[in-house]
Amino acid sequence: MNSILAMNQAIGLESMLRALTERQGKPPAARDQAFGLASPSTGRRCRAIAVAGGKGGVGKTTVSVNLGMALAVAGHEVILLDADMGLANVDVLLGLTPTRHIGHLLDGSCGIEDLLITGPRGLKVVPAGSGTRRLAQLSNGEHAAVIRAFDDLLTPPDYLLVDTAAGLSDNVAMFAAAADDVVLVVCDEPASLTDAYAMLKVLSRDFGVRRFRMVANMVRNAGEARQLHQKLARVTDRFLDVALEFMGMVPHDERLKQAIRRQSSVVDLWPSSRSGQAFKQLAGAVDTWGEPERLGLDRIAFFSRQAAAATGW
Ligand SMILES: Nc1ncnc2c1ncn2[C@@H]1O[C@H](COP(=O)(O)OP(=O)(O)OP(=O)(O)O)[C@@H](O)[C@H]1O
Ligand SMILES: [Mg+2]
Repeated sequence: MNSILAMNQAIGLESMLRALTERQGKPPAARDQAFGLASPSTGRRCRAIAVAGGKGGVGKTTVSVNLGMALAVAGHEVILLDADMGLANVDVLLGLTPTRHIGHLLDGSCGIEDLLITGPRGLKVVPAGSGTRRLAQLSNGEHAAVIRAFDDLLTPPDYLLVDTAAGLSDNVAMFAAAADDVVLVVCDEPASLTDAYAMLKVLSRDFGVRRFRMVANMVRNAGEARQLHQKLARVTDRFLDVALEFMGMVPHDERLKQAIRRQSSVVDLWPSSRSGQAFKQLAGAVDTWGEPERLGLDRIAFFSRQAAAATGW
């Protein structure tokens, strides 16, 4: 019971999130269009996958970049959206130097196609911009505008990966709720577990997200990863109405750190390293997921309408 108390105490975000829910209402029932169209290369609809975690530094960007690269290496069209507005670093991790970012999209000086930059192995990135306070303080209407902009892609990808920020701001909640799948990156630290629990609680209770896939990061081996999953799932099974599936793990690996220092992905530089192999397995897991259920689209269409009504956008 102590662990539950600790988790609830650690949440501390609840009042902010309650306010957010009051502003946004409950998740919708109606179907509508937002993230993603059919992909020409597979005939399937683009699958939007948000990578979240709550706590800072647990490896969300590392997982986004390397999973994106592993999917690209496996022959998929992938776009990686850096949704860590104002503190963007996907471009840094891939050694890219974007000239435009989401801010330019929002001020109308470019379209979504103009933002795409192509990284290694054809992985495309939508950069978020860094060091701009305005980008860190976008309204819900602006977040919805970013999400809706993906409807204008000329060639929708097979996968749209969304690297989210730390914490549980409107930004994170909207992108996670808009996606078809939420991948939760967790490492074996109390704060990571409590923040992950907080995120599951809020996204399920207030945003209607019911299914999550957990990646155990920086673990020693598969056994430790499973234990970490069980630790969190024991609490969520008891107290939350969510399914927390085990997706896989990424071991703590010096090669991964070296790749980051070289502004590259470990998947590209050292594919047979432990972490390189792990990302290949994670990409294989994604491939088995089947058709998305379009729930993300329903939810974000609702937010878009709410935001449009509130802001006149
Ligand atoms: N599997 C791993 N093995 C070794 N080091 C790792 C691993 N995963 C992440 N790291 C280290 O953790 C650091 C933080 O990772 P990352 O930037 O991906 O976290 P984040 O969750 O995106 O952080 P933020 O919340 O600040 O956006 C990396 O720079 C890297 O040094
Ligand atoms: Mg990050």
